[in-house]
Amino acid sequence: MAHPLWPLFDLRVATPRLELRYIDDELGAELAQLALRGIHDPGFMPFAVEWTDFESPQQEWQTQQFYWRCRADLTAAAWNINFAVLVDREVVGTTSLMAGNFPTLRQFETGSWLGRAHHGKGLGKEMRQATLHLGFVGLEAEWATTGAFDDNAPSLGVTRSLGYTLQGQQRTVRRGTPATTLKFEMSREHFDTTLRRDDIELHGVAECLPLLGLA
Ligand SMILES: CC(C)(COP(=O)(O)OP(=O)(O)OC[C@H]1O[C@@H](n2cnc3c(N)ncnc32)[C@H](O)[C@@H]1OP(=O)(O)O)[C@@H](O)C(=O)NCCC(=O)NCCS
Repeated sequence: MAHPLWPLFDLRVATPRLELRYIDDELGAELAQLALRGIHDPGFMPFAVEWTDFESPQQEWQTQQFYWRCRADLTAAAWNINFAVLVDREVVGTTSLMAGNFPTLRQFETGSWLGRAHHGKGLGKEMRQATLHLGFVGLEAEWATTGAFDDNAPSLGVTRSLGYTLQGQQRTVRRGTPATTLKFEMSREHFDTTLRRDDIELHGVAECLPLLGLA
C-alpha cells in the first residue's frame, strides 16, 4: 500500500544482493533486536555516539526513539534518512543518508552497521554502493562524505575500496579517551566515472523530492 502522506515509507533501493527499505516501526523493532545480538566486539567502539554501550531495555528504547526522532525532525534543511538493509527478506543491518542544506550544498554523509553475523561478506560495500546510488542518482548530489575511527579496519576497508579521497582528521573522545576520526569525500565525477552501476534500482524517489525541498 502506498503512503501518500509520508512518501519516504515507499522509498526503496534494490541491488542484486540486497534491498534498502525506509525504516518504519516494524523494521525499527527488528533492527533493535539485531543490535542486541551484537554489532561489534564489545571491546571496540566503532560509533561516535556510544549507543551500543547501553544495556537492554534502554538500548532498544533509545534505538526506537532515534528512528522516531529522525522521522519527526526531517525538514528540507536537515535530514537523516534511515534504511533497513534486507537480504532475502531478513534484516541484516542499516544504512543512512544525512544532510544539512542539501538543496543548496548537494552534499550528504553516510553511516551504516551490520549485525555481526553478516560482517565480512561484501554486504557493507554493497549497501554503501546502494546508498551512494540513491544520493548521486536519485537526489542528484554533488558530494558524498563519510568518516570512521582510524582503527575501524572494516569501515575504512569499504571506504578505501570505493576510492574516496581523504579529507582530513578530527580528534574526538571515545569511551573517555582521545581517538581520531578520518573524514573522506567523494565527488559526483568519481561516482559517475568509476562506480555508477546499471543494476541498482530506485523506487519511490520522485514522490519524496518535495519533502526534501528538491521539487
Ligand atoms: C563497517 C561494516 C559495515 C563493513 O561491512 P562488511 O560487510 O564487514 O565489509 P565488506 O565485507 O563489504 O568489506 C568491504 C571492503 O573492506 C575490506 N575489509 C573488510 N574487513 C576488513 C578488515 N578487518 N581489515 C581490512 N579490510 C577489511 C574488504 O576486504 C573489502 O574490500 P575489497 O572490496 O577491496 O575486498 C561492518 O563491518 C560493520 O557493521 N561493523 C560494525 C559497525 C561499524 O563499524 N559501522 C561503521 C561505523 S563508522
